[in-house]
Amino acid sequence: MIDNRKKLAIANFKMTLNMSFEIEKWMETFQKATERLELDKSEIVLCPQSALLSYFVEKINKSGVTFGTQNCFWESKGAFTGENSPVLTKSLGGKYVILGHSERRAYFGETNESINLKIKAALKASLKPVLCIGESGKEKKSDETMYVITKQFNECLAEISLAKMEEIILCYEPVWAISANNPDHLPDSNEVMEVKLLIKKLVMKSYGERVANKVRILYGGSVKGDNVEEVCVSAGMDGALIGGASLLPYDLVKVVKALNN
Ligand code: 13P
Repeated sequence: MIDNRKKLAIANFKMTLNMSFEIEKWMETFQKATERLELDKSEIVLCPQSALLSYFVEKINKSGVTFGTQNCFWESKGAFTGENSPVLTKSLGGKYVILGHSERRAYFGETNESINLKIKAALKASLKPVLCIGESGKEKKSDETMYVITKQFNECLAEISLAKMEEIILCYEPVWAISANNPDHLPDSNEVMEVKLLIKKLVMKSYGERVANKVRILYGGSVKGDNVEEVCVSAGMDGALIGGASLLPYDLVKVVKALNN
C-alpha cells in the first residue's frame, strides 16, 4: 500500500518515559501488544523525547513502526545551545517531526512564523512535518475556530511549494480537548469532520485537488481505544495523534486496530 493511503497513529510521548525502568517496561509491553498486529494498512509513529530517539530506533524493529521527534530547530547546525537539529533526527532514523504543538506555542513562545521556519528546515532535512493546528477553548467559545485554523494554516505553510506540501501531515488538535488540559467534553464526530472539511478546502484552494486528496488529516486530543471510533473513524480522519494513551501500548494498539478497519 502506498505510504499516503496508510492511516497514521502517531504517539506523542511528550516529556514522559524518563526513568530507564519506565522505558524498558513500555518497550516490553509494546513488543507484546504488537506481536500479532498487522500493519499493512496503518503505520505507528513513535515520537519519544529526542534523546531517546536512537534507542527506540535500535530496540524496536517492526515493519510498519517508524519514528519521529516532537520538535526541531529551524537551522540545520551551528551555535544554538540546547536545540535539536532536524538533520540529527533524520540521521538517527527519524522520519517525522511534530511541529506547532499547542504546548510549544504556549510554553516556548512558538508562533506561526517560527513554525513555518521549522517546517522548512524539517523538509530540507527530508523529514515529514506533522503540523498541529487547533483553537483554544476561549477561541471556540467566541466562535473563532474557522478563523484560527485558517490563519494557522496560511501562516505556518507560507511559501511551501506544491511538491513539499505532499510531505506534510496536518493534525487538527483542539487545545481544549487535550487530556492534560482536563477536557470536560470532547468534540463529536460532526465537529471534527467540519474542521477536517475546512482544512481540506484550504489545501484545495492553495494546492489543488490532487494534493488535497493526498494530504493526510489527523485528529488529536484525548484519543483512546474507547473513543477513537467517534473522534477519528466516524469523522473520516486519516489517523490520530495520541498523547496519554500512547503510554499504554495495549490501548495504543486498540486505536490502531480501529483505524485499520
Ligand atoms: P492527549 O492524547 O493526552 O490528549 O494528548 C494529545 C496531544 O497533545 C498529542 O499531541
